[in-house]
Amino acid sequence: MTEKLIIFDTTLRDGEQSPGASMTRDEKLRIARQLERLKVDVIEAGFAASSNGDFECVKAIAEVVKDSTICSLARANDRDISRAAEALKPANSGRLHLFLATSALHMEKKLRMTPDQVFEQAKLSVRFARNLMGDIEFSPEDGYRSDPDFLCRVIEAVIAEGATTINVPDTVGYAIPELYGNFIKNLRERIPNSDKAIWSVHCHNDLGMAVANSLAGVKIGGARQVECTINGLGERAGNCSLEEVVMAVKTRKDYFGLEVGIDTRHILATSRMVSQTTGFVVQPNKAVVGANAFAHASGIHQDGVLKARDTYEIMRAEDVGWTANKIVLGKLSGRNAFKQRLQELGVAMESEAEINNAFARFKDLADRKSEIFDEDILALVSDESVAQDNEQYGFVSLSQHSETGERPHARVVFTVAGKEITSESDGNGPVDASLKAIESHVKSGAEMVLYSVNAISGSTESQGEVTVRLQNSGRVVNGVGADPDIVVASAKAYLSALNKLQSKADRVAAQG
Ligand code: KIV
Ligand code: ZN
Repeated sequence: MTEKLIIFDTTLRDGEQSPGASMTRDEKLRIARQLERLKVDVIEAGFAASSNGDFECVKAIAEVVKDSTICSLARANDRDISRAAEALKPANSGRLHLFLATSALHMEKKLRMTPDQVFEQAKLSVRFARNLMGDIEFSPEDGYRSDPDFLCRVIEAVIAEGATTINVPDTVGYAIPELYGNFIKNLRERIPNSDKAIWSVHCHNDLGMAVANSLAGVKIGGARQVECTINGLGERAGNCSLEEVVMAVKTRKDYFGLEVGIDTRHILATSRMVSQTTGFVVQPNKAVVGANAFAHASGIHQDGVLKARDTYEIMRAEDVGWTANKIVLGKLSGRNAFKQRLQELGVAMESEAEINNAFARFKDLADRKSEIFDEDILALVSDESVAQDNEQYGFVSLSQHSETGERPHARVVFTVAGKEITSESDGNGPVDASLKAIESHVKSGAEMVLYSVNAISGSTESQGEVTVRLQNSGRVVNGVGADPDIVVASAKAYLSALNKLQSKADRVAAQG
């Protein structure tokens, strides 16, 4: 029988640690449901002990997601482990993921512990966790830069205490594929009880090799779990990208000889959802999910693909969720057609009320835009900037005047805790005027560190998708807004970022 490669998604934990990528509870729940639909084996839902907010998110995900194993990260101490186990109680299948640094640098400078102390703590923490749950993963943080002799000692001990998965993180993205693969192979060969655990890879992308390193860990090292994130989201240069690793193993099954359980048809919808929720735009030439990933611009390529697609295509676009016919709906499309399209795009909507709300926004968009593309629908369903009961700020309407030689002026109507406010301002351009109008009332004092506009479906008829990144008192948040009018999209993005700034989060970083 073909062996299985376990896909462990950490978009909601390691991915979320990327400055600006923090997500609300509802956003995390939506992404978790989508990951379940994608048939991810393990979802790392958060780091329960890092904040009350994270605890609630892990718990809520454990309550609703039933087909994937739900995992919480925990430092290797009793308090963190108990908290994580408590949050995971509602899960059908739960996993505790313990981590403790083992590199000389981290032990001395960060933990201020001796190797013997780290060894003892690793052992005792797994013993403690094993009394609470059967599925225990242990990560020696900065494992790849750790002394192999010490690592062997620690790993042998934690497996003896009952750890069921051993993860070898390249925490700082320092590895080279062949070296990383052999590093894991050596550990597995030297540790007498290594066959009692599943081995896992966890690679950061600082040198752009996270996917290559992970695949080498699988092929050379014999790892059977890959930790990854959607779009490679993550701190600094990000983590190993789920879509790339999955499609590599599937497309080159001849080489890897492994099965993956992922339903790849939901990859694109998941990528769009994560990008629109976090405001981290996917580069057009990104493998698998970038807008150009299946576009053949050169005449020779186009001719070849039309004659026989495998002349230049190694994967089928539709297998990862790109559809052949991209013009999907219009003004006359009904609720059923809309609902069916949502299903085809892999967008899970829980309640009829949610579908009705999205359909009303679809109708509104169709009144202003004759052709509605898949990308428009995906943007629409993740647009959280419209006035919502549970949000502090909501967009209502906007008018602006700009003329060559005149200073632009904007008037924005928006809600603050449900109450409508009208605010006006001048600015350098209509976008500047609109955001100044909002800020003059809200007085957030936040600094804008990024503003970007992206045409969702490529033409001037398309919706503009705006990302605004705000920084205030050490916190960085991203807001996203989409609309055929980019000034409106900008106001929506700004309000969405303000909503995120509102929700306070005091949390402990995993790689503190
Ligand atoms: O990169 C890392 O070392 C981690 C651990 C917490 C697993 O994310
Ligand atoms: Zn990591």
